[in-house]
Amino acid sequence: MISLKLKSLSMAAAFLAATVPAQTSITLDLTKPGHKVSPMLYGLMTEEINHSYDGGLYAELIQNRAFKDNPRTIPHWTPEGETKLSLDHDTAPTPALGVSLKMEGDGTLGVANDGYWGIPVWPITDYRVSLFARAATSEDIEVSIEGADGKEIYAKGTVSGVGSKWKKYELTLTTKASSPKTADARFVVRAKGGPVWLSLVSLFPPTTNNRPNGTRPDLLKLLKDMQPKFLRFPGGNYLEGNLFKERFDWKNTLGPLEDRPGHQCPWGYRSSDGLGLLEYMNWIEDMNAKPVLAVFAGYVLRRDVIEAGPELQGFVEDALNEIEYLTGSTSTKWGARRAKDGHPKPFDLQYVEVGNEDGFDETGSYEGRFAQFYDAIKKKYPKIKVISTTGGKDWLGVKFPINIRRPDLVDEHYYASTWDMMAMASKYDDYSRRGPRIFVGEWASQDVPEPWTNAGQKGPTPNLNCALADAAFMTGMERNSDIVEMSCYAPLLVNVNPGGRQWAVNLIGYDGLTSFGSPSYYAQQMFGENLGDKTIVSTDSGVPTQSNGKQTIPALFHVATMDSKTGTIYLKVVNPQSTAQTVDFDLKGVTNLRSSGTQIQLAGTDPKDMNSIADPKKIAPVTTTVSGLGSRFTRTFPPYSITVLKIETR
Ligand code: AHR
Repeated sequence: MISLKLKSLSMAAAFLAATVPAQTSITLDLTKPGHKVSPMLYGLMTEEINHSYDGGLYAELIQNRAFKDNPRTIPHWTPEGETKLSLDHDTAPTPALGVSLKMEGDGTLGVANDGYWGIPVWPITDYRVSLFARAATSEDIEVSIEGADGKEIYAKGTVSGVGSKWKKYELTLTTKASSPKTADARFVVRAKGGPVWLSLVSLFPPTTNNRPNGTRPDLLKLLKDMQPKFLRFPGGNYLEGNLFKERFDWKNTLGPLEDRPGHQCPWGYRSSDGLGLLEYMNWIEDMNAKPVLAVFAGYVLRRDVIEAGPELQGFVEDALNEIEYLTGSTSTKWGARRAKDGHPKPFDLQYVEVGNEDGFDETGSYEGRFAQFYDAIKKKYPKIKVISTTGGKDWLGVKFPINIRRPDLVDEHYYASTWDMMAMASKYDDYSRRGPRIFVGEWASQDVPEPWTNAGQKGPTPNLNCALADAAFMTGMERNSDIVEMSCYAPLLVNVNPGGRQWAVNLIGYDGLTSFGSPSYYAQQMFGENLGDKTIVSTDSGVPTQSNGKQTIPALFHVATMDSKTGTIYLKVVNPQSTAQTVDFDLKGVTNLRSSGTQIQLAGTDPKDMNSIADPKKIAPVTTTVSGLGSRFTRTFPPYSITVLKIETR
């Protein structure tokens, strides 16, 4: 027995000796020239999906505020008492609204809205109410925010003298100090007599910069904290729509809310278009970012297409007008319209994307459509960089190359398993430097059975495992940011209430009251916040590997950049393994290196760990001061960790 045991111990020792890799070492060679890091590398992508705007960033609290969500029923509104409710298509304040809610009955009439999974209530908070109303006989209308069971009134106000003609009424409700913080509440409109008609009933809590028709401050802050350099909008599939009439028609999203008809969004619900083109721009300005505007290019999701030629020209003109709306002086037609809408100063638009995922257009018409848009945009706006949605070396582009024009950038999309995303960390190392630059306009690691789908309904936000794979991929994009000019994760936002989402894995989650960033959010933030302007040439040896039986890939990922103005080195190391990894660093060509620096680290013990409404910062970065840095130093990276080391060289 004893000898057997000894024998097996010595065999184990021999096995270990054979498999334990040499000590990992990474050399940063500052004597060699790195390349410029794209200052636009990290941005955001957005569209109406998962109640990103309605029921999300757009702070409106009333769901189905214009009674247009269903042409026959009245979702989200319930009658009070014996009140009879109906949709009246014969009277509405404006043609764009086109319908109103009619309340009839004896005695007190009332109707309650349940909001987006409840109306969020905070004590001593001002809410802006606006509504269009008319009444058969002169009426006072009472509005209130109350508990879901109607027992407690948190705030109440009166609209006086509603007459027989449509009129807009506005007032402020302030919740009582005794109000709880709850989303278990509803908004109620009551009147006496009747009939009374209502339209565009709106309720806003405080918004970012207190702007009317504005955004949710907590979500805006989360987004701004990522320091994004750009916002790609309005989609995504939301740009295209299922049908031509359901595309994002920017003109219908301008001006007073009562002039916006709203439209069906491809993700299964109707968009109010309250967050319209100018609201996107306000949002971008609030983040100090730049717009990346996607223009509709004649292809819709149900695979209908208008090929290049005279019929497409109308959409080309529409795109030119949209660009003029954003960038034209106030002496131009659309620039003047922008000024009328409240923003005389032109916006700085440097990137325009033509369409979205046109590799799905099996007719192969995109090359011609792209050329038609490209020529028209370049003729009028030669400085704008025009992005194609296919044509690169990506999986969509292989089938449909763009040969007749050279896009400034090609948009590539990658939704991948965590394994595949880590494997893609080296994807751009051998990409051709002669082709267009790359915009990774949608990407995400998904720890779900089948990426690309909602199978398994995991999520709704990424776990630590995803964050590790995301970070590994970002080391590759950053190392190759001479060719990868821009990137943005997708989707960005998700309302985590049951039924709120359409996509499995999304960066930021929220309900009516609170919000949280996922581990992947923090990984993005760490990379975006700590971006130098020059890469540092690095080499490694002894890096451990991992295998899934079919493929062997590194089990440690790294990239280094420098801020040439301040001399700060940003060293990023990702350890996706369950064991700590120790690395020897050798920095060549650095003098004046300070021995203490800053470490920002995101780590956890279980890769399946996630953040949530209940535990929003379970996985969050920790910043510490570290010592022992030098031209040669050794550091140990904990299991499942993403580390940014800031090393000062001046
Ligand atoms: O991000 C979700 C969807 O994925 C986008 O709308 C679309 O462009 C892609 O297919």
